[in-house]
Order: sequence, then structure tokens, then C-alpha cells
Amino acid sequence: MTSSENADWMALREDDGRAYLVNRVSGEVKIKGLGRFDPVELLNGYSIGDRINVGHKSLTIVDAALPEARRNMNRRAQTIGIKDSGFLISWMGIGVGSKVLEGGHGSAGLAMHLANVMGSKGHLISVENRPEHAEVGRGNMQRLAEFSAEFPKWNLLEMDLQDAGAEVETICGNLDAAIIDIAEPWTVVEGISSNLRIGGRIACYCPTTAQLEKSWNAVEAIGLVVEFAGEMVERRWSKAGKGGVRPGNQPMGHTAFLLIAAKIAPIEEE
Ligand SMILES: C[S@@+](CC[C@H](N)C(=O)[O-])C[C@H]1O[C@@H](n2cnc3c(N)ncnc32)[C@H](O)[C@@H]1O
Repeated sequence: MTSSENADWMALREDDGRAYLVNRVSGEVKIKGLGRFDPVELLNGYSIGDRINVGHKSLTIVDAALPEARRNMNRRAQTIGIKDSGFLISWMGIGVGSKVLEGGHGSAGLAMHLANVMGSKGHLISVENRPEHAEVGRGNMQRLAEFSAEFPKWNLLEMDLQDAGAEVETICGNLDAAIIDIAEPWTVVEGISSNLRIGGRIACYCPTTAQLEKSWNAVEAIGLVVEFAGEMVERRWSKAGKGGVRPGNQPMGHTAFLLIAAKIAPIEEE
């Protein structure tokens, strides 16, 4: 997937960070929260960095990037967000040129974070067995590709993760990393592990402790070494009314436990 020559995406940003993605092409569009307009007419004479009024809103025109794509994405299934995707990407060493499998793809929450760092030499394979989810995820990925300076080669396999091994092998050979976000990760780790290179890593995204324990046992049973099991805790701070800064009033929310395991060389039989 590559950038479309017809696309000229930008974001109209409210001062509080909310942003609306706009493709500067002619023809009326309806953008939720902004209303109906022709982007070419609306933006005529304006450039990135300018302030513009749309209806009652005063907005800054900025380049469209991952934060704006994330805030504007269509959602169907629960998505993996910044807190967990950032940690997974760094721990697993995912970057330019990596070969990565992710599934279930869902609405592409994780896939967008992955694609954002993999460069045009990377190869991302997403797997999703529900067509209605695949459609939403594909739409989000296509839009991100249109305004990304670089985007990895991307395959979306509409099939069960359990059966994806042969196709993954054909598409890109061995994987550097695989991230599993389905209800029963332990049922697919053995198959996916055979696609991993030695030294590669598999991660399971486990909302409950039962999922974590079953996945942990399953990866150890096939000889992988657990490098990390736990959760990321995010605690936001805010400015206090009478001065100073302090932890905010919002509760710390749980997303999921993360399990990361590495594939090591088999022990030689004497
Ligand atoms: C929680 S959602 C994934 C969200 C996604 N990781 C994101 O960040 O947006 C789980 C997805 O896995 C899909 N799924 C469940 N079991 C699967 C399987 N065995 N093979 C492929 N996809 C599966 C579901 O249809 C659903 O879309």
C-alpha cells in the first residue's frame, strides 16, 4: 500500500487536541463535528500552520499524522492504544524493516501504530477472521497510508490465525515479531511460533489473568522464554485549582496484561 497521488490530507485541530482529518480534494464532504463543506473551497488561501474558522470553531491546520489518525479512526472491536503498543514496539525491537504479524486485526488500532514505525522496507501481515472487522481495519489503514511518508508492505489475510502459517511463510519468510490479540491466544502460539526466526518474539495481549496464565503456560510448553509478563500502568497528572500539579481525579484504567516471549535455539540432544 502506498500514498495516493490524489490525496492531500491535513488535520484541523482544536486547541484541546481534538482534530478532524480533511482531504483537500474538491467535492462536498460531511465531517462529523465540523459539518458539510468543500475542502478545496474551505482551505483556499490557507496553509499548514494557519488558523481557520469553521462554523463556531477556531482551528489550527496541521499535518495529518498518527495521533490525528488514531483520534479519527473508525472502531468496531476494542483497540490497543498508545500505552501498550508503544511498550510492545520497543520491547520487541520492531522498527524499520521489521517483519511483523498481528492478529486479530480488528479496527487496526495496533496495526496503525506498527505501520507508523516500520518504514517502507518493513512488512506487516495482519490477520482477521471477521469480514466486517477487516473492512473497518482496512479503511483505517488505507487512510493512514495516504498521508504517511513511508508505509510498510501490508497484507491483510481474512482467515483464522490458526491457519495462517503457510501463507505467512510464503509472503515474507520468517517473522521478527508476532502480536496476538484474540480471546484465546494460547490456541495459536504454537503455529505462529514456527513462523518466528530464532531470537524473534511473540506477544499475547491478555485482558484477564486467566488468559495471561494460559498463554504463559502455552509459550513455555513450546520452549519459548518469557521475557516480560505484566501490565503498563498509566497515571495522568493535572494542574490543581490552587496551584501546583497533582495526580488527576480519573481512575487508572486496566487494559490488558502483556506477555512477551522469545524463541531460542533448541537444545541439541547428546
Ligand atoms: C480485540 S480485537 C483486535 C483489536 C486490534 N488488535 C486493534 O488494536 O484494533 C480482536 C479481533 O480478533 C479477531 N479474531 C478473533 N479470533 C480470531 C482468530 N482465531 N483468527 C483471526 N482473527 C480473530 C476478532 O474478530 C476481532 O476483530
